[in-house]
Amino acid sequence: MNEIQRVMSKHCTIRAFRADPVPTETIEKCVRAARQAASSSNVQAYCLVQVTDGHERARLRELTGDQQQVEEAGAFFAVCAEEHRHALIAEAEGKQTGRNFESFLVAVIDATLFAQNLVLAFESEGYGTCYIGGLRNDLEAVDRLLELPEGVYPLFGLCVGIPDETPAKRPRLDPRALWFEGRYPTDDEMRDWIAEHDDRAARYYAERGNPGRTWTGGLLRKITTRLRESVPAFYASKGARLQ
Ligand SMILES: Cc1cc2nc3c(=O)[nH]c(=O)nc-3n(C[C@H](O)[C@H](O)[C@H](O)COP(=O)(O)O)c2cc1C
Repeated sequence: MNEIQRVMSKHCTIRAFRADPVPTETIEKCVRAARQAASSSNVQAYCLVQVTDGHERARLRELTGDQQQVEEAGAFFAVCAEEHRHALIAEAEGKQTGRNFESFLVAVIDATLFAQNLVLAFESEGYGTCYIGGLRNDLEAVDRLLELPEGVYPLFGLCVGIPDETPAKRPRLDPRALWFEGRYPTDDEMRDWIAEHDDRAARYYAERGNPGRTWTGGLLRKITTRLRESVPAFYASKGARLQ
């Protein structure tokens, strides 16, 4: 493994942070590196809103389901897909952008690639990170708080800071379960790999005081529930075309 792969392989979400702020120079260095992420036709359809105000951070903690790290991490960002910058460029020429689901998807993919690059940049500096999907719990309230213009779609939050815990790495699927040659595998093969992973994960949880817990058990609770059903209507209200 080279140095970059070692940083990637060490990743572990951090949820307890020391109070130290992340220096602006470090953030700038990491943003400069991360923005070199590939971008579909180089449209760069994303932005990052850092929230520094203490009251706003406390409110965001509430809005994201009382996640303490949102308030306590050294830095907190809202990662947004965005088509607003493009609208300004078109408007300057008296034109309108051709928004559709594809342009929305491009923006979401661009923003996500940038965010993961940013996570790696911070982690390579020894910082811990935690993505916050809870930012989509109440997007209207988040939008009001951040005063985002039309065409900017908050996707998830990102906490960054000095770790105040050292959790063990969480198990992942074996590469065979997600790296296929030529064709998707048979359902029987996939079932075997799922069972293998569940055994590994169950041992991991049992060793950490959670006997009986499995990967599929936790997953089932998540995937059999329809979550955050108001998200598409919110994005549409901000100008996204989702059909
Ligand atoms: C888009 C996204 C949203 C997430 N949202 C949250 C969140 O709201 N709160 C949280 O504690 N962790 C969140 N996570 C972290 C995942 O729970 C974590 O990555 C996963 O359990 C695997 O653990 P690991 O990152 O430590 O390997 C999120 C991760 C991603 C990629």
